Amino acid sequence: MPPRSREAKKSANASPGQAAEPSTLRQAVERLWPELEWIEDRSLRAKVAATWVRAFELSPLAPDDLNRIPFTLLIPNCPATFMEHKRCVVHIARRSAESMRDFLGRGLAIDLDTVIAGAILADVGKLLEYELVDGKARQSQRGEFLRHPFTGAALAIECGVPDAVCHIIAAHAAEGDLVKRTTEAIIVHHADFMSYLPFRK
Ligand SMILES: [Fe+2]
Repeated sequence: MPPRSREAKKSANASPGQAAEPSTLRQAVERLWPELEWIEDRSLRAKVAATWVRAFELSPLAPDDLNRIPFTLLIPNCPATFMEHKRCVVHIARRSAESMRDFLGRGLAIDLDTVIAGAILADVGKLLEYELVDGKARQSQRGEFLRHPFTGAALAIECGVPDAVCHIIAAHAAEGDLVKRTTEAIIVHHADFMSYLPFRK
């Protein structure tokens, strides 16, 4: 089944006869991600939010779907939703970065905004990796060609997100094992995996 059209997705979110405007998508992104407020650099915060808005514009998924679909297709009957997992990763990453800065900051530079932005954006590409069939998420043909680290980095670059954050998106998953991760990318990578591996029995 082809991905739902943008119009169909809009109407799924809006009242009958009412099309969702970009500002409505922006508000939906802000509702999904209260952690955006943690990013101190306002320009970076706006670019991170814009990347999520752009992803929804291109995706068959609507914002509400992320509170329903599982965070991974690799675990049968996965009990955690997309947003539960993604927000958990952001919280773990931030607290880890703060602890590392408190104890190791004298010799190790860590940019907290970069960590938070990277964690919020790590899986944004899944909006282009998935499609909905009978209400269930599955990998789309695009997703088979381009996993979310690739599409996520492309979306973020398009929205002007700094390279240090795009690096986290590109390197957060197994593909990143082949590159030299920054300290911020190492933190997000481990936050992601420590909240994924326990589900894999
Ligand atoms: Fe991921």
